[in-house]
Amino acid sequence: MKDFLDAVNLAVSKFKELNSPVRIISHLDCDGLTSASILSAAFQKQDVKFSLSIIPNLTETILKQLSLESYKTYFFLDLGSGMLKEIEKALPEKNIFILDHHQPQDSLTNINHINPHLFSLDGSEISAAGITYFFAKELNQENIKLSHLGIIGAIGDMQGKNGFSEIVNLILDDAVKVGKIEIKKGLRMFGAQTKPLLKLLLYSTDPYIPGITGNESEVHKFLNELAISPDKKLTNLTEEETKKLVTAIILKRLGSEENPEDILGFNYLLKDEPDESPTKDAKEFSTLLNSCGRLGKSSVGIGVCLNDKSSKQKAIEILAQFRIELITSLNWFYSNRNSSFIIEKPGFVIINAENNVRPSMIGTLTSIISNSNLYSTNTILISMAHTPEEDIKISTRICGRSKNINLKQLLNSITNLLGIESGGHNYAAGSVIPLEKEQEFIQLVIKQLGTESFLKANPT
Ligand code: C5P
Repeated sequence: MKDFLDAVNLAVSKFKELNSPVRIISHLDCDGLTSASILSAAFQKQDVKFSLSIIPNLTETILKQLSLESYKTYFFLDLGSGMLKEIEKALPEKNIFILDHHQPQDSLTNINHINPHLFSLDGSEISAAGITYFFAKELNQENIKLSHLGIIGAIGDMQGKNGFSEIVNLILDDAVKVGKIEIKKGLRMFGAQTKPLLKLLLYSTDPYIPGITGNESEVHKFLNELAISPDKKLTNLTEEETKKLVTAIILKRLGSEENPEDILGFNYLLKDEPDESPTKDAKEFSTLLNSCGRLGKSSVGIGVCLNDKSSKQKAIEILAQFRIELITSLNWFYSNRNSSFIIEKPGFVIINAENNVRPSMIGTLTSIISNSNLYSTNTILISMAHTPEEDIKISTRICGRSKNINLKQLLNSITNLLGIESGGHNYAAGSVIPLEKEQEFIQLVIKQLGTESFLKANPT
């Protein structure tokens, strides 16, 4: 950890020798948006001029466009580590900073590359927002006021479910110290601030509640027996009601594969945000940002991070739109399970949504399916969606948290056969391939994942 923080400090001292303007390129998800917001706020404070773009993923086409610009200094946030060679080739003579936590390409470069993987840390121990936060704090200690964004970014990347890593705890300590975040132990369910219990339990996929999740009449019965109103929000329950609910959920989960008490955990509340707002709980905040990014409204997400009131209002409307689109995508999936769009085989499922799901939504859709208990643990989901540029966005996920499979390596071993690099980490990986490679890709997946030896090594 010390080496990692030393490397951040060295990168900052190198940056201080450079002149503005600076070009920032960041990723459209919650971690990318919080990273971009931290760096933008830090640069504003230092009077560093910059221009910012938020992109779905870094491609050679984008690098080509960047190479035509006259900036001398480029920051890549939450992306870039998987494209070191391509970045160096496209942007020679430029000062490059990459603050990313994805598995890096194996390449020696002159880039100022800060990535936990280079310091014996894992990509799931700190997200890009955390790295950017340490950079910003070294630039100016007053940026400790941005620490909550480092935590929201980490949560957006599914970190902190069972507490954070040692290094992210340093950020959390800062956020608590400056009064930005309050930690509360309790039911770690999504929507505690904003959703009535009926909806909260109905849509509770993580943790999953057998017999309750997805079954509206059972949710009514369950709450009725506990004498708790389905319209009440979790945050408004009395201590007595909360205890009853926790016990009843644990009982429902007895016998399930997971530890029944996994429903308890830490919730991180933003102290400056109003109670019951979608920006109060860091988990809900991260969803708000994700929906902005994935619906192409990144600037609204940045506004939310930087505490702009009108952006917060707009983001709530975007979230509603995002939910509608997600439900439409899920409905498409369920009604096409018996069609040629979806290939269900032992151990893996290929979901080829073509133009039926937005490319920026396909990852979220695949995550929901992987958490839904629809397929058994270890089943690999490979989803595909067409992009307006006539490419295919690929998203892969694994059902349950398999320790054996590294999805990034797995996807890479397939896309490399097409001459294409994939990115991501153990539990989520993605890529972009040309449309004309669609059938070849599908056949390669079937060939590689359908073999007896693969199935034996990774039983579902
Ligand atoms: O887009 P999706 O959520 O499926 O991405 C899963 C993981 O793969 C993320 O970590 C993302 O950054 C990475 N990815 C990538 N290159 C792509 C698409 C996704 O590195 N072209």
